[in-house]
Amino acid sequence: MTTTKLIELAVSMKKRAYCPYSGFAVGAALECSDGSVFTGCNIESASFSPTICAERAAAAKAVSEGHTDFLRIAVAGSGPDLCWPCGVCRQLLSEFSPDGSLRVIAVDGNGRWESATLAQLLPRAFGKHSIRCDSL
Ligand code: THU
Repeated sequence: MTTTKLIELAVSMKKRAYCPYSGFAVGAALECSDGSVFTGCNIESASFSPTICAERAAAAKAVSEGHTDFLRIAVAGSGPDLCWPCGVCRQLLSEFSPDGSLRVIAVDGNGRWESATLAQLLPRAFGKHSIRCDSL
């Protein structure tokens, strides 16, 4: 899939966002190494903490369908700034890109975008290697 198409998918997912509390719609489109693509949007809760970011919604769909090797993710926000993933999402994405090679494409509300690797966004990540659990 082209970068433009992945970004378009992420932008189009903003219309599915359930964000009555923040009013900040986010859409995501996640491409896996086999070429499959999973989309997501943010889902908020009246009690706030159960809120799920668009990136984690897309990741949950991918993993629950058996796709665990993440290649690229486009994240489209609604503000003037590029929508880089929050810290929690960076950590979860790192689980499925342990070498940090996942390419993250951050998009602002006007469609402007920039990209960076997950390793750049989450250097010295904590991961399964950190636990040193032989059974993993
Ligand atoms: N949000 C995302 O979906 N992804 C991000 O990378 C940053 C924040 C959502 C969470 C919440 O619903 C809203 O944006 C405001 O923080």
